[in-house]
Amino acid sequence: MKNFTSVEDINDLQSMIKKALHIKENPLAEGNKGKGKTIGLVFLNSSLRTRLSSQIAAQNLGLNVLILNASQEAWNLEFADGAVMNSGTVEHVKDAVEVLNQYCDIIAVRCFAGMQNKEDDVNESILSQFLKYAKVPVISLESATRHPLQSFADCITINENWPFDRLTMNRKPKVVLTWAPHIKPIAHAVANSFTEWMQNMEVDLVIANPEGYDLDPKFVKNTPVFHDQDEALKDADFVYVKNWSSFGNYAAMPEVKENWMLTQEKLKSTQNAKVMHCLPVRRNVELSDEVMDSDHSIIYQQAKNRIFSAQTVFSEILDELSS
Ligand code: CP
Repeated sequence: MKNFTSVEDINDLQSMIKKALHIKENPLAEGNKGKGKTIGLVFLNSSLRTRLSSQIAAQNLGLNVLILNASQEAWNLEFADGAVMNSGTVEHVKDAVEVLNQYCDIIAVRCFAGMQNKEDDVNESILSQFLKYAKVPVISLESATRHPLQSFADCITINENWPFDRLTMNRKPKVVLTWAPHIKPIAHAVANSFTEWMQNMEVDLVIANPEGYDLDPKFVKNTPVFHDQDEALKDADFVYVKNWSSFGNYAAMPEVKENWMLTQEKLKSTQNAKVMHCLPVRRNVELSDEVMDSDHSIIYQQAKNRIFSAQTVFSEILDELSS
């Protein structure tokens, strides 16, 4: 694995999940693997889980960890080629990444969608520049269109909660990715990415969202889309709750008349479904306290698995560096 920015960067998802579960059993088993090497974690946006789980994962491998909370602590970056930098930006991304190349053996970066210009976001205008100028492997800590370390953790979590390898289970789990309300326009990265990774798992995935909120067809592909949440939730084994804004009318929030917040009542038609969310969650907006604090929720387990998804990816990249 040279870079890690999407599911396409891994060869075999099932063996990656197995490796992650093995690491989870003994997280310090490869404690010297990263010795003498440095990972730079660059955050252009806020984070709790990604920042801390990546740090724990890197430390478990013996990596030296540099963390740059770039949006608060670094110079204001310029991304336009040929820009005359006589205004608000102080350092060109080309120079910043060239310097990171001098300090780091691996660069990991978080760069959210700007939600202002659809073309810039769809084309990954920031991540693509890190990939262009980096001379070391690049890992996405969430970019404009994808959140691969989150999705990998989601796959690990579903695997832990479904007996995929038991002969007695003769059906695939039904996984529902359901839109939920929010107070402001949210990017599509988590929803796109979850869809993409589930399409590589032995699951029956359906997406539920109101009219006007269909995701980018490039990610949806042949996945069934329901505009009736109750219909979609029937017999679900896993319900993944997430808000996203309109993709078609980019970043808009078309009015939704029905109440899409996930409640205990709505879970009654499921197969006692496990509920997932990447966090942070707006309680009693996206899902109710009752759901969040119930036995349905495997949300904290998901958050814990962020360590092992990151550690597995870092470990694979260290293997590549030493080969
Ligand atoms: N799920 C997730 O990426 O959380 P943070 O934004 O806190 O890193």
